[in-house]
Amino acid sequence: MKHFISTRGIDSATAIRLLDTTADMADVRQRDVKKLPTLRGKTVANVFFEDSTRTRLSFEAAALALSADVSTFTSKGSSVSKGESLKDTVQTLESMGADFIVLRHCDSGAAATLAQSGWINAHVINAGDGTHEHPTQALLDAYTLRSRLFGDSARGRNLAGVRIVIVGDILHSRVARSNVWLLATLGAHVTLVAPRTLMPRDIAAWPVAIVHTLDEALDEGVDAVMTLRIQKERMNDAFFPDAAEYTRFWGMTTARFDAVRANTLVMHPGPMNRGLEIAGSIADSANSTVRDQVSHGVAARMAVLYTLLGEDAS
Ligand code: ASP
Ligand code: CP
Repeated sequence: MKHFISTRGIDSATAIRLLDTTADMADVRQRDVKKLPTLRGKTVANVFFEDSTRTRLSFEAAALALSADVSTFTSKGSSVSKGESLKDTVQTLESMGADFIVLRHCDSGAAATLAQSGWINAHVINAGDGTHEHPTQALLDAYTLRSRLFGDSARGRNLAGVRIVIVGDILHSRVARSNVWLLATLGAHVTLVAPRTLMPRDIAAWPVAIVHTLDEALDEGVDAVMTLRIQKERMNDAFFPDAAEYTRFWGMTTARFDAVRANTLVMHPGPMNRGLEIAGSIADSANSTVRDQVSHGVAARMAVLYTLLGEDAS
């Protein structure tokens, strides 16, 4: 694998290998010496055209944990304001030594375009492209699920038989897309829940079940509920009547939480709109995986950098 652009098309054996490598990296992070020399002499360039807290900082932490040098570019404050193109920006970074370009961009397809462009030789990792994909988020989510559900016996496993509900702004969510492809490959049963206005038009072609209220989805009993952020910055229209109405039908409220099985996991990729798609007390509860997801994000990104580096040796 030279680039990491999408979870679509990753086969089951590769997906399990990535999860197991994430487990290895999580073990490294528990040691007294939390570093590996794997990327010594290599440079990871984070190239962020959209805002980020978790993804950018965890790629930095992952690169440093593998002994790489790191440079970080954010479009705000850069020469993009003078009209510099993506091509010239990434070529500039490669000229300064970048071996990996971690790209977050507002255009769906930007990472794939860069990987196929021939503009650079560096590995390209998609850190979120428009409403298209966020594959390292899906990897850390699957890893979080697998380790919380199967504990010490997680290694080598897929997610066959695991039931997951993904609820919220599916239309604008690259997290939902990357999760759906990876979870389906791992054998999980995925149900999507959203108001009709926030369901993508091509949803019938996705490997999922679809319902339109959260109560209906939870009735069947599930292992995990992944709540998604309402992405106001991508909405140029009213997609639901108001916030209270949204929470009433699609929010993870305390009343709903009290009605689900005691060990049901509640996930959120962050950043959260507390009180809208998820009650603050649920986000802070023992069932919440929010903090684990962030922590596993470093290990998952170490696993991706490590795996792509392996391509250079082959
Ligand atoms: N942080 C995730 C993303 O960039 C999810 C979100 O913003 O809601 O896609
Ligand atoms: N989950 C996620 O991608 O968070 P950031 O947008 O803060 O990177």
